[in-house]
Amino acid sequence: MNSCETLPPSVEDGWAARLDHVMHEAVTAQDADLGRIAGELIRHGGKRLRPRLLFLSAGLGEADEALLVHAAAAIELMHVGSLLHDDVMDGAATRRGAPSVNSRWGNARAATTGTHVLACAMAELEHLPHDAVSTVTEAAFTLCSGQLRETEHVYDLDLAVEEHLEIIRMKTATLFGLPCRLGAELSGCDPGHIDALFRFGQQLGIAFQLTDDLLDLVGDAADLGKPTGTDLRAGVFSHSVLLALRQTPGGRLATLLRHENLSAREAAEAAALVLRAGTVDVTRELAGTYTEGAAAALAELPEFPGRDVLAATARRVASRME
Ligand code: IPE
Ligand code: IPE
Ligand code: MG
Ligand code: MG
Ligand code: MG
Repeated sequence: MNSCETLPPSVEDGWAARLDHVMHEAVTAQDADLGRIAGELIRHGGKRLRPRLLFLSAGLGEADEALLVHAAAAIELMHVGSLLHDDVMDGAATRRGAPSVNSRWGNARAATTGTHVLACAMAELEHLPHDAVSTVTEAAFTLCSGQLRETEHVYDLDLAVEEHLEIIRMKTATLFGLPCRLGAELSGCDPGHIDALFRFGQQLGIAFQLTDDLLDLVGDAADLGKPTGTDLRAGVFSHSVLLALRQTPGGRLATLLRHENLSAREAAEAAALVLRAGTVDVTRELAGTYTEGAAAALAELPEFPGRDVLAATARRVASRME
């Protein structure tokens, strides 16, 4: 694995090798060329956060391990497919510590590979009960609508913070709530417990994207394994940027951000203005509030194997910015 950011292994990660095997089989089964391109991105790793949430959540009940592996593969493949499309949309040059598929093979192949990987996710769903398929499908629709809503607001200096948070919920938190909910459903949990795990995942997902957006502003590309500064240049204005714009409407930051194709120097100037506005701390606090909300949802549940690891995973997401 060559992704720069990883999570510490936990005792619950016995599934990791089986998941990798199933995903590799899935992406190579139908088309060798697409399988080779997709397989490389999958081999580069990533944090495998969403499968981890599914397996840990399933620990609240009892589930068939093979079923969980197919469900985790479906969700991680949906995630990988969305990353392939996202890197085309964002024009990102690196992913998981390596050149992105779009930069290496071009946008057309990257988009096609993304669609191939989503088809592979659909094939994994064949193994799941009908209700689970509906749950996954609903999440996929929400994710797409969230990404489209983001696109509709690029370069929108007046984007309302509430709308921005709703976009984050749709495009990112959906794929955090889904594995928590599905893990609990497939292991036969009570509806109240399924709902608490779902709320845990959703709030964690919002905290995760708020933090990811902060890292795009102030993080280190080598540590992250993906470029920084892409959001400003692509006109995707995150929470701290929107708050900074509200402080001085029509000021230098607005003048800079209104322009497409910001130079590296202008992007750095814009980032410095956001830092000077002090709004990064406000966003960090908001991410902390969502992480606390996630912890509170977890605390509603009875003790079960993995509950502490879920709590630690949430703390780890919060500490990415420390
Ligand atoms: C990246 O997700 C996309 C976002 C929602 C910000 P991850 O940071 O979980 O990506 P990988 O799987 O670890 O590469
Ligand atoms: C991506 O958000 C969300 C989805 C892939 C749906 P970002 O564009 O911030 O993700 P990164 O930073 O490229 O990983
Ligand atoms: Mg991106
Ligand atoms: Mg994006
Ligand atoms: Mg990002």
